[in-house]
Amino acid sequence: MELNILVVCYLIGSITFIVGLKMLSNPASARKGNLIAAGGMGIAILGTIFLYEEDGSRLGNYGWIFSALLLGSIVGTLMAKRVKMTAMPEMVSLFNGMGGACAALISVIEFRHMLHVGVDQTSLLIILLGLIIGSVSFSGSMIAWGKLNGRVKDFAFQGQHIINLVILVLNLAIAGYLMIAGPAAVPLFFYLIIFLSLLYGVFFVLPIGGADMPVVISLLNSFTGVAAACGGFLYNNKVMLTGGILVGAAGTLLTILMCKAMNRSLKNVLIGSFGGKKSVSASQGPQGGTYKELSLSDAAMVMSYATKVMIVPGYGLAVAQAQHVCHELEKTLESKGVEVKYAIHPVAGRMPGHMNVLLAEADVSYDKLLEMEQANEEFKTTDVVLVLGANDVVNPAAKTDPSSPIYGMPILEVEEAKLIIVNKRSMKPGYAGIENQLFFQPKTSMLFGDAKKALQDLLAEVRNI
Ligand code: TAP
Repeated sequence: MELNILVVCYLIGSITFIVGLKMLSNPASARKGNLIAAGGMGIAILGTIFLYEEDGSRLGNYGWIFSALLLGSIVGTLMAKRVKMTAMPEMVSLFNGMGGACAALISVIEFRHMLHVGVDQTSLLIILLGLIIGSVSFSGSMIAWGKLNGRVKDFAFQGQHIINLVILVLNLAIAGYLMIAGPAAVPLFFYLIIFLSLLYGVFFVLPIGGADMPVVISLLNSFTGVAAACGGFLYNNKVMLTGGILVGAAGTLLTILMCKAMNRSLKNVLIGSFGGKKSVSASQGPQGGTYKELSLSDAAMVMSYATKVMIVPGYGLAVAQAQHVCHELEKTLESKGVEVKYAIHPVAGRMPGHMNVLLAEADVSYDKLLEMEQANEEFKTTDVVLVLGANDVVNPAAKTDPSSPIYGMPILEVEEAKLIIVNKRSMKPGYAGIENQLFFQPKTSMLFGDAKKALQDLLAEVRNI
């Protein structure tokens, strides 16, 4: 009877993961979806702790288990509450690394167990897979975390990809040997696999350029999912298997989608160095000619008398935390009869869906957010585009300059609109480190200043019209 209750707990867990994941695909339901999946996970964990039985005995060790759960919950809650929206990718990376480490530790424990109770080839294969993938994911995610918070610098040397390949092949060969000769032959080899996998993770992520980090994090995420699924196979635990497969599949799909959004192949991301090499440094300053500025009152005037205004949010809007005042401006313009929409580029900001999350936080209605293709259609009929702290995602060099590191990346074609107002603090380049000719075009006017302050002042001017 109790076993059946445990199966029901796992079923609830699996269903809530799927429902939660589906709800995450829409900003309106994402928060609820996350809670539902977390609730299902909680039920599965508590079910395992209290109902799981092996050879007629329960888990026990409740003191240890609940101390660890309490400690983890406190640390996790504090980190989630304190993290800044712009630092989310590094936190995702850190948590992902912990998942990989857990999967690798499961393999270590089960390997040692196997040495006592006897070898089963299928289990050994899964243990080795979980160990290799989990360890790569752990060390790779730690390097990604260090790179995103600036503690670790990009590092590449001649022939690095060959060395990576050699490490990988050597690792697989040792794992193959253990499969054939049996784990008891040279148990030390098992620990050599851990070392080589950790080394591979480090070498794999170190040379990857900054702008490509989200793709790598998403790939490592899928690795952790597969490693967790190995644990599910090993313990014949359906909820762990379902969770692992979902994370693995979602991570793989996100990796493909991000590569598509940047118009690059995964191979190019992994062995190229986009974003790692800056072609123009901030200190070099603008080289594209003259730009013009416009005053707040002029900006307020053209926006108030426009029929349609399109707002293009970017990383700078997130840094300035100007989403709420941006929403206020949108409502004020609408009260004056202006149609206001937002054009969302898939890699605007620093993480997938960054702008959607940011605007959802300010209660911007989802039907006002246009995806890139739709926005590009609508720019032709737009009177004023207000670019808020965005740079690379509106850079025409992506279409016109084959030597540009962002060449080929689809962009928001804001130059199709009648007038473009760009708000940023200076003429410094964006993430890719390249100059933006858009700022020097006759249709473009610069509105310098921190996005929050500029929007507050602009809002006051618009209200006075
Ligand atoms: P960026 O090209 O990075 O440009 C952001 C601009 O915001 C900068 O030029 C900066 O200019 C301005 N800015 C910074 N702080 C500001 C503030 N307080 N107020 C006003 N402006 C401010 O951003 P983007 O257009 O959103 O493009 C994103 C870039 O990041 C792409 O290259 C993308 O590939 C990369 N990336 C994306 C992701 C994902 S998945 N979204 C992850 C990592 C990297 P000033 O310094 O002159 O103010």
